Amino acid sequence: MEKKTDIVMSGIRPTGFLHLGNYFGAVRNYVRMQDAYTCYFMVADLHALTTLNETRELRTHVRRVMAENIACGLDPDKVAFYCQSHVPETAELYLFFNMIAYKGELEKTPTFKDKVRLQPNNVNMGLLTYPVLQAADILLHRATLVPVGKDQEQHLEIARDYAQRFNQRYGRDVFPEPYAFNFGEALAKVPSLDGAGKMSKSENQMATLYLADSDDAIRKKISKAKTDSGGEPGAPMPDSVANLFQLLRLVAPEDMIAKFAADYEAGTIRYGDMKKELAEGMVRFIAPIRERATDIQNDDVYLRRVMEQGAAKARASAKVTIELAKDAIGLNYI
Ligand code: TYM
Repeated sequence: MEKKTDIVMSGIRPTGFLHLGNYFGAVRNYVRMQDAYTCYFMVADLHALTTLNETRELRTHVRRVMAENIACGLDPDKVAFYCQSHVPETAELYLFFNMIAYKGELEKTPTFKDKVRLQPNNVNMGLLTYPVLQAADILLHRATLVPVGKDQEQHLEIARDYAQRFNQRYGRDVFPEPYAFNFGEALAKVPSLDGAGKMSKSENQMATLYLADSDDAIRKKISKAKTDSGGEPGAPMPDSVANLFQLLRLVAPEDMIAKFAADYEAGTIRYGDMKKELAEGMVRFIAPIRERATDIQNDDVYLRRVMEQGAAKARASAKVTIELAKDAIGLNYI
């Protein structure tokens, strides 16, 4: 197939098991885009260092995240699928972008403020310059489309600023402007099952459905999911219920979704029945991914080949960009 001209780039931190938020917000779109576009997807192991004191689990997490992406349908032969630390050009571009990144702006980034609250004793410079590194990831391939969830919107805004600033400062159009992408739809934000916040790799694990969850864990978590008391015909749908419908849409046939939606409208919905259908659908959806991911994770030879092949493709693209950037800056004396 003739590829479209836009370059696609995205990344996931290896800080825990992937969950349905990662799936809806990111991985599903990676798979949908891999045939039509030139894609660079990576495991953001350097970004993970901003919050990890303990790195003993890193190897396992990196391999699990890679295996889970592949188990969801990502094809390493169709895209460049690599580890961030295997592409040292990332760090070089990060350094260049640090010259156009302002401390005051970075201090105002909501994700930075959140992290300061969460780890007041480890407010390292990596946390502050997290968006600078992310801009480098994206612009290293001069990507314009970035499939991500809603929580990454601000980071994309910063990446656009740096692209413009770099071009302006050095007087050359090296970088295009990257945008968060979800096929023209609103960016995904999968709320947690308890209705408080979003699904997350490390927080509120009972309210997050992981692609590694056992069948029993899935059933248990869904049975405890928050709903409303029901019964008010025509009442506006609370987020927690809308989320159950969103999840149901992924795994249930149209007529079943329509039935529960009609029941909701009529105020006669039985959440117990809906949760049972949702749980069985989720088990059917997650179980094969979980099993495939475990097989892939255990295949050392295959994973090594994926990482090497991914890094080679990513470095080839990175090399061109770094040359363009150095040339624009004037770092070209020989
Ligand atoms: P991370 O690892 O937190 O999340 C990976 C992807 O999953 C999406 N996501 C969600 N989407 C919808 N609902 C949720 N509850 C939910 N939780 C997570 C995220 O939006 C993301 O798309 N900074 C990034 C990693 C990164 C990156 C990049 C992304 C590093 N370099 C370059 C894009 C481009 C992060 O922490 O994602």
